[in-house]
Amino acid sequence: MLRHTKIVATLGPATSSFEEIEAVIVAGANVLRLNFSHGEADDHRDRARIIREVAAKHNLFVAILADLQGPKIRIARFKDNKIEVKNGDVFTLNSKLGYEDGDSEQVGIDYPALITDSKPGDILLLDDGRVVLEVTAVDKDKISTVVTTGGPLSNNKGINRLGGGLSAKALTDKDKADIIIAAEINADYIAVSFPRDEHDMHEARALVTAAGSKAGLVAKIERAETIADDEVLDNIIRASEVVMVARGDLAVEIGDAALVGVQKHIIKRARSLNKVVITATQMMESMITSPMPTRAEVSDVANAVFDHTDAVMLSAETAAGDYPVQAVEAMDRICRGAESSRNLAKSGHRLNEQFDHIDETIALAAIYTANHLDGVKAIVCMTESGATPKQATRLRTSLPVFALSDNPSTQTKVAMYRNVHTIAFSPSTMNTDEINQRAIDEVVKTGCASEGDLVVITKGDYVNAQGGTNTLKIVRIGEKIQ
Ligand code: G6P
Repeated sequence: MLRHTKIVATLGPATSSFEEIEAVIVAGANVLRLNFSHGEADDHRDRARIIREVAAKHNLFVAILADLQGPKIRIARFKDNKIEVKNGDVFTLNSKLGYEDGDSEQVGIDYPALITDSKPGDILLLDDGRVVLEVTAVDKDKISTVVTTGGPLSNNKGINRLGGGLSAKALTDKDKADIIIAAEINADYIAVSFPRDEHDMHEARALVTAAGSKAGLVAKIERAETIADDEVLDNIIRASEVVMVARGDLAVEIGDAALVGVQKHIIKRARSLNKVVITATQMMESMITSPMPTRAEVSDVANAVFDHTDAVMLSAETAAGDYPVQAVEAMDRICRGAESSRNLAKSGHRLNEQFDHIDETIALAAIYTANHLDGVKAIVCMTESGATPKQATRLRTSLPVFALSDNPSTQTKVAMYRNVHTIAFSPSTMNTDEINQRAIDEVVKTGCASEGDLVVITKGDYVNAQGGTNTLKIVRIGEKIQ
């Protein structure tokens, strides 16, 4: 059985060599994430080269996701590297303090606009909420606070505000330079951290295009204000190819109690708008130091599969953990187990909607047909850009969807899409009668269907015509096919 849910694995110090990266890919990673918050340009270049080499060696289609650092707001550093604050302590964030001069009473900040963004009563969460400060006063250079949750605090820890609303622009100068590197290594996807609205995504799109890249944009949903208003969220989704439920910072800003409901909402909105969605952060966190996941982690991954996420993501588990390969194997196993559950097989999703486009209608009709006609074993979408199989798989099916394309960038891009499996296919060298038969031959080679089974095919009147899908055909393997 082909796994439907795709696995994104982050590379890092634990996954740098050819052998380490090969092991993660062979274990089932479909998309590899290069985290531009860490490492130098040459580290990313080397890893990208290895990914392409391994994929070619194993005849696999593996996409590369370049994840930009974005404007993480951080405290500066302490003279002694680390301090301890206690409940009730008075603590000051001081933009005029020397960068290395923090102590147990005050510390510098690398984002002076935090002062204008803050007001008395605000709750600031440091180090993902491990230390909590309540703002008592704000003046020109300083934010005075009282500690409400104490604990250790070390250099450069992140700052979030409960409820969100910090004004930092999504794209920093570093991100702009990194977009050029991502274009150079031909990343299939580029992720934008902390977008506030669709304008941040448009700005990223302009920079990516100017760098000569056709990468799909991933909007990381991690600010409270982007999920507080459905219009803002939908517009960000529309301006992107993929959204990521970036649960780390998002949970800090909205509180962990709201997180799971928000995750389900984002996945639903993305799928309704024909977009792709990744569920990310701490999915297998304990596997950084343990060879097996906890039951809660198993449940978390399975729930994301039940929500119909396209992909689940591993971060430190594969980048810096002790068991990167086991983490991918565990995810693979859990996804397959959840997918075989009966309540996932069919969909009532979008049954009451009207569609604007012929290709979208054909794509969704293909799934409806396949789900309701006995004997169908696979769906085949001839595609130029990947749009048809993506639209098709916004509806649920337990049957595999094959993307037949001769466009190399599409062949890797669909590695992110739930239940879409690439078959390299060059229809322009075939005569029209041959195309369907050759497509069926390819499906039979995968082992998913054989003589007597039905296959649903979508295509257009012309070969290599993006957006031209207008035909739905049902063929029986072994019978004469036109
Ligand atoms: C292939 C087929 C065309 C079809 C197109 C759809 O190129 O040969 O007949 O129109 O895919 O591509 P799309 O990018 O819209 O999925």
